Parts: sequence; structure tokens; C-alpha cells
Amino acid sequence: MTFHPAASHARDHAAPAAWWRHAVIYQVYPRSWADGNADGVGDLPGITSRLPHLRELGVDALWLSPFYVSPMADAGYDVADYTDVDPVFGTLADADALLARAHELGLRVIVDLVPNHTSDEHAWFQAALAAGPGSAERARYHFRDGQGEDGSEPPNNWSSVFGGPAWTRVTEADGAPGQWYLHLFDPKQPDLDWDNPEVRAMFEQVLRFWLDRGVDGFRVDVAHGLVKAEGLPDWHERTGMLGSAEKPGEPHTSVDVPEHEAAHDEPDRAPMWDQDGVHEIYRSWRRLLEEYNPEDDPQQDRILCAEAWVQPVERAARYVRRDEMHQAFNFDFLQAAWHAKDLREVIDHSLAAAGSVGAPSTWVLSNHDVVRHASRLGLPVGQPRPNGIGIGDEQPNAVLGLRRARAATALMLALPGSAYLYQGEELGLPEHTALPDTVRQDPTWSRSGGAERGRDGCRIPMPWEAGATALGFGDQAATWLPQPEIYRALAVDRQAGVPGSTLELYRTLLTLRRELGLGLGELRWLDDTPEEVLGMQCTGSGGAAVTVLANLGEQAVPLPPGEVLVSTSTLTDSSLPADTTIWLRS
Ligand code: GLC
Repeated sequence: MTFHPAASHARDHAAPAAWWRHAVIYQVYPRSWADGNADGVGDLPGITSRLPHLRELGVDALWLSPFYVSPMADAGYDVADYTDVDPVFGTLADADALLARAHELGLRVIVDLVPNHTSDEHAWFQAALAAGPGSAERARYHFRDGQGEDGSEPPNNWSSVFGGPAWTRVTEADGAPGQWYLHLFDPKQPDLDWDNPEVRAMFEQVLRFWLDRGVDGFRVDVAHGLVKAEGLPDWHERTGMLGSAEKPGEPHTSVDVPEHEAAHDEPDRAPMWDQDGVHEIYRSWRRLLEEYNPEDDPQQDRILCAEAWVQPVERAARYVRRDEMHQAFNFDFLQAAWHAKDLREVIDHSLAAAGSVGAPSTWVLSNHDVVRHASRLGLPVGQPRPNGIGIGDEQPNAVLGLRRARAATALMLALPGSAYLYQGEELGLPEHTALPDTVRQDPTWSRSGGAERGRDGCRIPMPWEAGATALGFGDQAATWLPQPEIYRALAVDRQAGVPGSTLELYRTLLTLRRELGLGLGELRWLDDTPEEVLGMQCTGSGGAAVTVLANLGEQAVPLPPGEVLVSTSTLTDSSLPADTTIWLRS
């Protein structure tokens, strides 16, 4: 299918660069965006009906978290059939209708690909269980005999990202305790063995299936996890999503790291993450995607975006070398502390690393796995990021959090590259920090024995209309996770057209970003700013420039002369208040 942007969406400056180099991509979490059939869970027809919201917001594309057949042990990131839609979300015809409507509105559509693991209810895993040890069916996964005399010890000491061991023992057909299988996440998410050619062939078919239906790209789940180190050696650190012992945000010097050198430099690389073998997989996928753009038209590119929690950023840059993926999420930006120096370092470092391989940087502040930035930024600066917030935990300062979130977004949307938004952040939604533990669904909560609240608080159904059932999410009042009362005042219909609302702020920022061509622009730091003020001259692809000032300090600072295009908080005098970003016409 050929993609035709809607006329009024076309760039005035007719940018020749590929669309994904500057796109703003909005993440829709299908369970929680809009419920079309009144069962309390979001679905594809619901999404289709609400697409005009994205057009009005001014984004370029949407990324859909998984909507495939799944027992939902990890909210759809446990896929039982990669080429069909789960009945809770609709049908393949609904997926086609969504794609068609999005394209009509000038929105591209990226879908989620989950290649590290299947569901345990996938036909392959069921066949592996039935076929027994040594079979070709088991060779698609990581089945091993246990250690110890009776094999009752797991094959190695790895733990799962969600807590508990990364191995589960199966019962063989004769009823005896049998082999163990590896699952870096939930036991219901067995890891595939990517050394097996059948696995590679299956995913090529999956890519083609969705490309043939017209999707514009794939967000690749756990892209750094597919290949494991030979022999599955023990690892004595926690299995977080970050592989090496490196700390987030540490400065690094070299940006151009060839594969062979990088591997030797970092002996502490975790054996389950970021192994060199993953890159050949992505090269082959890139070649496959390019078949769908035979004329090499940059506006028809189908793309790959890596979810790779990899440190340092130079390692992440290896996923976006010219013959691999197009984009990789930049989690360093999301994790940076609220200090001008930290953010500047991360921005510089990200641009340099991505630039060294000719890729655009990406920017993101929120997604379905982290505490929403309107709440995260309301926690004391410098403390570790919590995995969810519950009633008994330290509560974020909501006013400060939203104020900083708005300032952070205005900073992000001025940066060159591609930016990702997470549903509801355009409303300034906070994390639901008062969810009763009894309704939690994220496996992290139970597998960590309640030590980590998990990610439910950022996955609450969207508020669309303050006065409607389920705040306009759908006609069933009991939504799959309850909506907090504070979401009512933040509903779309309460903010649309209201000057100064977060929704109108996002619309303004996105309009200006597009008009000025900032996504394809250049950044120059202004060095004569106070210590906690970031100053940038952002020149768009059309040649016009804006001065962006972000005051991360506690004190107001004098405002330089110039026409204020947008400010994230009210300006009452000629000063730039604390926790505020402004764009000035230069
Ligand atoms: C990714 C997804 C997350 C999921 C995990 C396992 O990190 O973003 O939601 O739980 O992969 O698939």
C-alpha cells in the first residue's frame, strides 16, 4: 500500500528527508485507549473511532502495543498467534479498517513485534511440551536438563526481569518432573532460541504478513534479548532490562565503536542482553523491509524501532547502523535527572552517538513500562526511579510534577530527531498512585512478592469526556483498571480549546515544531545562561530558528527580549519562572 499524507498535513518546506527521521510517534496502549464494545477493555474499533484526536494533536504516526491473540499474562506481550487479532481487541478486519482510516488521516501506523518470547499457549510451545526432550519442537526454545542429581536445580542462576527464577520445570508426558525452559520474563513467556533457523523463518513470515496489510513499521520488543551467550553462563547480577554493570547517565567518550572492539571493551556484559549475534537478525529484517520500498522513496520507508535497554548509548547506536534498524528508543533521556547539566550531557551524547552512524536520535519521556513523567518528575530529584507507585509509597508532588513534565516535553519537542509520546501525556495525566493492590494485573507485582508495584498505574483507561460513562472511554462503567477521580478534570473535552491546558500546549508545540521543521533541524547551545538554565538555539530545516530556554532551577531568571511563541507556565513579568520552558522567536 502506498502512503499518501493528507494534503493539509504536508510539510510546507517539502522536506526531502525520510519521514521517520523527524516523526512524532504516539503510543497507543490498545487496552486503555478506547473501548468500542462496552466490555471495559479498549479495542481496535475504539481506536479507529478516536483517531481524529491524533490528527488534531498533530502527530505523524501511532505505535500500537500488541493486539494479537494472547492469554494476556503480560497484557499482550505474550503472543499466542502473531498473525491474528485477539477477540478482546477485535478482528483482522478491524485491524485493516484501523490502518485504512489512519492512512486516510495522514497517520502512519507502527505495530509491536514480540520476537524474544512467545506465549506458553503458542502452538509451538504446546508442541514442544508434547514432543519431549531432544525433539525438534523443543529446539525452538531453550529447554535444558536441570542441575543436581535429580535435575531439580535450574540449569543456571538467571533470574527473571519480573522477579523469581528465569527457569520453570515442566512435567513430562509420563507425569515425571522433566526439563526446564528459559523465560526472561513471566513463566508464560518462554524465550525462543534464535539460533534455530525455523524461528528466523517464522518471524520473516510475520513481518511480511503485517507489511502486506500495510503497516508502516515495527517497534521491536526486547530487541537486545534475542540472542543469548553461548552456553548460557551464570550471571551474578540482577536481571534488569539493562545489561551491563554500567550506570545510566555515565559519561562516555568514544562514539564510533566497531562491533569487534566494543565486544572486548566490556567484559561485564550480561549473557542474556545485547549479544553481537542480534545484529545479523536486524540486518536481514532491514533487507526484507526494503523489498517493500523498491524505489527507495524516503516517504515510503517501512521502519524498525528497537526497544533496547542498552548501555552505554554507543551500544544502542549499533542497532541503528545504516543496514540495521531505523530508530532505537533513547532511554537515557527518559532516565536523566532534572538538572540542566545532566540533560545537556544526555542530549549531546545521544546526538553524537546516533549521528556517528547516520541515524536520527529519538526522544521519549513516558511509555507503558515506566511511571508517567507528570508523576516521576514530582519525586525528589536523584532518587532511583520506582517501578510503580502505590498508596503506601512516597507520593509525587503532583503540581510540581506536571509543571516539570510540561517543561520537559517542550524541551524534547524542540530537539532534532524523532519523538515518542505516550497516550494521555498530552492531557498531563499523572500515574494512578492509589490503585488498590487487589486490582493489579502486571505480573511484576505478584512475581516480586509485592516488592514492586509494577506498571498498572501508567496503563489506566483514557479520559475523553468528563461527563460520560467511564469518562468517555466506553459504555461499560467498570473499566479493566479503575480510573481515578482526578482524571475527570483532565478529560480531553475539558482541555480542548482551553488556553494554557496541557492539551493545547501539546497542540501548539507540535504545530510549531512542524512549521519550523525542528525535527530535521540543528541545535546550538547558548552558553551564557545561568547554571540551571538550558539554552538552545534550534534552527529548523526551513532556516528559521527558535531560542529555547528551560529553567530547571528553583529561582526565576531574567527573560531575554524576543517574541514568546510558547511558554509552559504563565509569565507574569519579564522573568522566566522555575521549571518552565519557553520558545522565543530568534
Ligand atoms: C517490553 C515491553 C514490556 C513487556 C516486556 C516483555 O519491555 O515494553 O511491556 O513486559 O517487553 O515482553
